[in-house]
Amino acid sequence: MTESLNFSAIILAAGKGTRMKSDIPKVLHKVAGLEMIFHVINAAQSAGVSHTTIVTSPIQVDLRDNILAKASDYNLTMAVQEQQLGTGDAVKAALPLAGNPDKVLILFGDTPLMRPDVLQQMVGDSSDITLLGFMTDTPDGYGRIICEDGKPIAIIEHKDADEETRHIKLCNGGALAVNATLLPDLLNGLENNNAQSEYYLPDIVRLAHAQNISIGLVVCQQEDTLGVDTKTGLAKAEALMQNRLRQKHLDNGVSMTAPETVYFSYDTQIGPDSSIEPHCIFGVDVKIASEVTIKGFSHLEGVLAETGVQIGPYARLRQGTRLGAGAKIGNFVETKKAQIMEDAKVNHLSYIGDAYIGEGANIGAGTITCNYDGYDKHLTEIGAGAFIGSNSSLIAPVKIGDGAYIGSSSSISGEIEAESLALTRAPLKEIEGWSVKFRMKKTKTDEAKDK
Ligand code: UD1
Repeated sequence: MTESLNFSAIILAAGKGTRMKSDIPKVLHKVAGLEMIFHVINAAQSAGVSHTTIVTSPIQVDLRDNILAKASDYNLTMAVQEQQLGTGDAVKAALPLAGNPDKVLILFGDTPLMRPDVLQQMVGDSSDITLLGFMTDTPDGYGRIICEDGKPIAIIEHKDADEETRHIKLCNGGALAVNATLLPDLLNGLENNNAQSEYYLPDIVRLAHAQNISIGLVVCQQEDTLGVDTKTGLAKAEALMQNRLRQKHLDNGVSMTAPETVYFSYDTQIGPDSSIEPHCIFGVDVKIASEVTIKGFSHLEGVLAETGVQIGPYARLRQGTRLGAGAKIGNFVETKKAQIMEDAKVNHLSYIGDAYIGEGANIGAGTITCNYDGYDKHLTEIGAGAFIGSNSSLIAPVKIGDGAYIGSSSSISGEIEAESLALTRAPLKEIEGWSVKFRMKKTKTDEAKDK
């Protein structure tokens, strides 16, 4: 049973990734806002592995630093494969760091769509070696799984396969779960007399079969094992991941009229009975409670919204936006580091940054918090029930007391007492008949010019 066994994962990432045409290491490219390798690490963790070793090449210093900097929550070690001599050699480089598990789950760092439930099936299989296979009508490039009496006995790489083998549609997905006691000897038995002169990891299947070691097979969908090598592959992985995320939110009770136009981050959380209108984009770190409405063309990242909040259309909510229950953010409103309390409203054309807006306050159209003086950011505090007239500039640091009124078009700084009225509008000046005189003067000048 899986409960009593101890699993560790080895994730291979030492490949050059040159086809990505990028200075960024391949496995650090993001899918749904998360680096590919972290999708793989997370899937392995969810499947129950206790420890993960990542195989990198000697020059991938940035990759190692980058992973370790983000990996404080993970039990991770880094192995270095001195030369890229093949997937079998890469696993060998990781073995001394892989601990003392019962089984080792071997994965590729460029497969962001690997599902935890597929990995659970693999580690739960009682065979000494469990392969991951998939059926496809377009098997070119993949290793083919050779079966005898329905049992896998070998994997032959596409480049080494004869015509008959190339017709096989059962392909190697790459991942393997292997009895840790048997793995070192199997790896030591690998040779590189093949089309690529590499030590192929899949060759351990042939070696295991020759030694009567039990071999099992888990079959998954082709997309689960998709390996990303190019920017086209990255876009394909993103599209597939978005479909999964859309389905997950629909299954959780989120309404979407056009889910295919909504883009989620891997970590987006949305409560049931919330509804998302078309063309919304979620960046990382968004948590939305239930019964929240997000109208079309809104963009959110780093947002926490309580029950009953209404957002958009065309709202841009940035990092550090906190919306209390029933708060309303309307069209063309941008917020950043803004705590907008229960039932407060910012309905039209505003920028609210580095601000606290009290319960039930009303921020009129066009109000701007002037939070930045070119050097520092300053705070705007608006009390509960305050009313900020349209087109006001709140020049931070500024504190407006509970229930205060700010006259429209005011420029306010400093502190305004609770329940006061504050306004900085210039007095109205009206000159009767001025425009008639002005036009006459202009017409005469034009006539003079024409002569
Ligand atoms: C591999 C399998 C193939 C399978 C396919 C599924 C081998 C020999 N072939 O081929 O049967 O159908 O996956 O996608 O395993 N890597 C290293 N060090 C190396 C070589 C590779 O760390 O020396 C890493 C790469 O960074 C990559 C992974 O191993 O993450 C897979 O290597 P790759 O060369 O892409 O194997 P495939 O051609 O995809």
